[in-house]
Amino acid sequence: MKRIEGWFTTFVQCARLQPRWQALNRELLAESRQLREFDDAGRRWSAKNYPGGYTSYGSLDHLHEFSSTFMELQRHLDRHVRSYARALDWNLGGRTLAMTDCWVNIMPFRTSHSLHLHPNSVVSGTYYVATPRGCAGLKFEDPRLSKFMAAPPRVPAPRRENRPYVVYPAEAGNVILFESWLRHEVVANPIRSERISISFNYAWS
Ligand code: NI
Repeated sequence: MKRIEGWFTTFVQCARLQPRWQALNRELLAESRQLREFDDAGRRWSAKNYPGGYTSYGSLDHLHEFSSTFMELQRHLDRHVRSYARALDWNLGGRTLAMTDCWVNIMPFRTSHSLHLHPNSVVSGTYYVATPRGCAGLKFEDPRLSKFMAAPPRVPAPRRENRPYVVYPAEAGNVILFESWLRHEVVANPIRSERISISFNYAWS
């Protein structure tokens, strides 16, 4: 008898935010573009750190505390994060997972977001506001890659547990959640329309 099993799973959750996401997205879209217009500090920060695009990460990263539209988004996200925590069998011990940061990302043609993780958080994620056809997805890397330095490469189409990375398509109305230590990136936007998303962090507090 032989058994071979996969262990130590990394969970990524992808779900529709809510049934009536279109109305909320219209408001989020308008506010995101207004932010870019008025956030001089953010545009300066983006010119250095997010070439070609706009992110409020360096200037306005508590949007859930200032805008009722983003507060509504937070209420929906809280529910998704609670279900994600249950899937991970986390024992929160009477403490809660609370949103600490929330910011906008606008990616025009050719803007990219290189490989990174989200420090000082436990759950992070992205909600998609505008995802024109053909825009880049969210690419996650196997967190054990650095331990594979002497391992042979993989065959071209390995079984899903053995893939070195996975790309989740960006789809308006969807929210993707992952553990904050999981490295991810968005490759250069290959199309001429803007890809707009809202990223966020949750801490255990
Ligand atoms: Ni990120």
